[in-house]
Amino acid sequence: MNILEIRGLHKDFGGLRALNDLSLTIEPGQIFGLIGPNGAGKSTAFNCIAGVYAPSGGEIYFNGVRINGERPWNLCKRGLARTFQIVKPFATKSVLYNVMVGAFARTNSRSEAERKALEVLEYLHFEKHRNSRAGNLTIADRKRLEIARALATEPQLLLLDEVMAGLRPSEVDEMVGVIQQLRGRGITIFVIEHIMRAIMALSDHVVVLHFGQKIAEGAPHQVASDERVIKAYLGDEYVISAG
Ligand SMILES: Nc1ncnc2c1ncn2[C@@H]1O[C@H](COP(=O)(O)OP(=O)(O)OP(=O)(O)O)[C@@H](O)[C@H]1O
Ligand SMILES: [Mg+2]
Repeated sequence: MNILEIRGLHKDFGGLRALNDLSLTIEPGQIFGLIGPNGAGKSTAFNCIAGVYAPSGGEIYFNGVRINGERPWNLCKRGLARTFQIVKPFATKSVLYNVMVGAFARTNSRSEAERKALEVLEYLHFEKHRNSRAGNLTIADRKRLEIARALATEPQLLLLDEVMAGLRPSEVDEMVGVIQQLRGRGITIFVIEHIMRAIMALSDHVVVLHFGQKIAEGAPHQVASDERVIKAYLGDEYVISAG
């Protein structure tokens, strides 16, 4: 069974059609990439899937169950977690507290939530920051905190919205490694990213959005050599630098 299936998804904001007839299918264990220019509708797609926005039309199925209009909290309990493009930790609270908030999706016990949060922090090599104030973290560490909080909810499907934006090249490489490890643990990953190097290294399958519409999909090397994708998004420079 597909873990996520989207059929004919639309989202309108007033007169603006941010998503237009988007369909895609994600299989368990995949790393699935979503790319496209600024304003293409990528985050809107995540917001519809994760229950932040009600779709204006179309169907969303998670593990075969129709989830249109379900609230984010219920979706989280079903095993669907996401990170936000604009990171919003509880800034005055510790890293550990922030991750425990995620863990409370699966337990009411404070000690169990703390145990789970510490396990995730160790897994992400982030435990040394457990007592840091979230608001004092660097951007790279805030992105890591977003992932930690999402992981603490024990997702089957993890939606990552530009977790590599603003990272240095070495930090990008590290994040690519983390995401590959998550897949190794059986988590399916749906990732929005502008850093093509990362998308190419990670994804099994890529969908390209432009003005809310899917203009291409396929293996990363296929979409990167697609004329429409080069024109709409990558630019001729990419083709030259990609050889
Ligand atoms: N809550 C909202 N109300 C009105 N318009 C919105 C809202 N959210 C997004 N939009 C508009 O929908 C379109 C798609 O935005 P979205 O944030 O999904 O793009 P994106 O592909 O994630 O872009 P970026 O790469 O810059 O993050 C844009 O024109 C945006 O201005
Ligand atoms: Mg976005």
